[in-house]
Amino acid sequence: MTEVPVDLGPVPPFWKQRHLLGLEELSAEEITLILDKAEIFRRAMEAGHRRIPVLAGKTCVNLFFENSTRTRTSFSLAARRLGADVVDFSAATSSLSKGETVVDTAKNLEAMQIDAVIVRHRTPGTPHLLAQNLRSAVINAGDGPHEHPTQGLLDILTIRQRFGRVAGLTVALVGDIQHSRTARSNIWGLKKLGARVIVCGPSTLVSPLWEQLGVEYSYKLDDILDRVDVLNLLRIQFERQATRPFPSVREYALLYAMDRRRLARTKPNILILAPGPINRGVEVTAEVADGPQSAILDQVTNGVAVRMAVLWLLLAVRN
Ligand code: NCD
Repeated sequence: MTEVPVDLGPVPPFWKQRHLLGLEELSAEEITLILDKAEIFRRAMEAGHRRIPVLAGKTCVNLFFENSTRTRTSFSLAARRLGADVVDFSAATSSLSKGETVVDTAKNLEAMQIDAVIVRHRTPGTPHLLAQNLRSAVINAGDGPHEHPTQGLLDILTIRQRFGRVAGLTVALVGDIQHSRTARSNIWGLKKLGARVIVCGPSTLVSPLWEQLGVEYSYKLDDILDRVDVLNLLRIQFERQATRPFPSVREYALLYAMDRRRLARTKPNILILAPGPINRGVEVTAEVADGPQSAILDQVTNGVAVRMAVLWLLLAVRN
């Protein structure tokens, strides 16, 4: 048995989750538990512990049907740093092109003795369908525009680290709210932890219906700048849109790009987040993205810690 260099603390009895499908499904207590464990993993990484082999002998499969840079690499690193084996499934060269269903594909992978499936798919609900059909832990790495729970968790962890709390803060999600799974996961998580959320973007991408999720909405970024603590700048998801939601990217940038002029109108300790990939000059200028208020790369570091926490919580205590 390899020695584990870090005390991860106990897993409290209220933790019963077998999958991570979305933040909608989690309680505030469960979200806080994941964040607390992620904090331990983050500190361990900073202390130079690249290997904490609590999942030695486990196998995770990355089942990605949509493009990914950060999420897939981050899950792979997280699993490997916990001592697990990782298999990358490539949708483009698989038998899906021969007509096999996603459930059959996953069941065949499961027959090879795996413990976790990390799935990204353009169809909302795909992880939920797999969870109903597999014994393995299923982790949603993005299901179309629906949810991206580990992105929500890493955003919230970054906020909590900066402010020492989440409750009472005002967080604005700016951009393509309609097609953003990051927005939905942020809304569920932030609301459960007591933050105020404003969704902001053009009227083709933000609607009053969002109020049903307990958030405020605004069409004008300039109107909300002075009262927000956090701005989470979302990418325009052109690949999910049937028609262009605004006349030109330049016009969008004029109204919504976070630039130096707008930054000057925010609170002095404003926190700038973006899930990435960022489009410099569209949702944020290079100056702001690389500036002192931006925690964009810190989010990426937290992403590994959050995914280590999720994998450990789902796999270490699985019966
Ligand atoms: C996001 C995604 O794919 O949902 N990126 C990510 O996972 N870091 C956001 C996006 O694509 O804009």
